[in-house]
Amino acid sequence: MIKRKVIIDCDPGIDDALAILLALKSNKLDVQGITIVSGNVPACQGAKNVLKILNLLNRLDIPVYIGEEYPLVRELVTAEDTHGKDGLGETFLPDISNTNIFYNAVDFIIKTIKKGDKISIIALGPLTNLAKAIKKDAFTLNKVEEIISMGGSFKSHGNCSPVAEFNYWVDPHAAKYVYDNINSPITMVNLDVTREIILTPNYIELLSQFNTSLSKFIVDITKFYVDFHWRQERTLGCVINDPLAVAYFIDNSICSGFYSHIDIVTDGIAMGQSIVDVANFYGYKSNSYVLNKVDNHKFMEYFFTCLFPEFKEDINLIL
Ligand code: RIB
Ligand code: CA
Repeated sequence: MIKRKVIIDCDPGIDDALAILLALKSNKLDVQGITIVSGNVPACQGAKNVLKILNLLNRLDIPVYIGEEYPLVRELVTAEDTHGKDGLGETFLPDISNTNIFYNAVDFIIKTIKKGDKISIIALGPLTNLAKAIKKDAFTLNKVEEIISMGGSFKSHGNCSPVAEFNYWVDPHAAKYVYDNINSPITMVNLDVTREIILTPNYIELLSQFNTSLSKFIVDITKFYVDFHWRQERTLGCVINDPLAVAYFIDNSICSGFYSHIDIVTDGIAMGQSIVDVANFYGYKSNSYVLNKVDNHKFMEYFFTCLFPEFKEDINLIL
């Protein structure tokens, strides 16, 4: 089975952490590198967090590159209220010291795509790194096999304003630039589908019963996130957006959607909103594949059996 080559661009972040765990445990992806962008936490903290995640899986062989610290135009607004001061639910795990963290994520993205292999990008944070890479070398970036972006919304309400989703709200200029300048359609894994993916108390108790270092890590980092969801949205459990982007990349049957032109609002009351021209009002060429249906059970089955293959029977009993 040939593994698909990917770069994971992220802002870890609790759900980013779950997405990275899924990507690595799936054995379906050849992760060329992990690039970090400021979003949930500043990029330098995100890089420290990725090392903790890689160390847990004994995968410190995967290179980590720090990218853009600030959005293209806006001031940086981070989300420690959601992900904790350390970005991993205030678990304050010890830093991994004996490992190189590299800089220049944008150059790494360009250089990796230039190698000529089929490379895809799974973007789980604001699109600042991608926008900068396109600005620097659009010809190369348009050779990317596939881009999956967790971000935006179609009909679902926003999580940063009534209409804006965090990744596209933090850097709306970058999101607009990427959608306006990448030739192939970008799959938008948006809130309409990710809001269906909730790690409920039932699932969290299942993880506790597994009682492994991996399951304990997930329970520990999601506690803070669950409290935030109850406080903010009266959701019992936590929405895990980013793992759905990875799962969909691996198995497209988990979600379905439609092609559409989308534009991103860059200022004013609707800043960060993804405008989905579903009725093709403007007659523009579609630049996005907008997901609007998800098989929640299929996702959860994949998520749990992939992370905990040793508990496959128990998982099938409960799911
Ligand atoms: O709006 C949710 C997205 O913003 C997720 O990727 C989360 O990690 C944050 O980056
Ligand atoms: Ca993220």
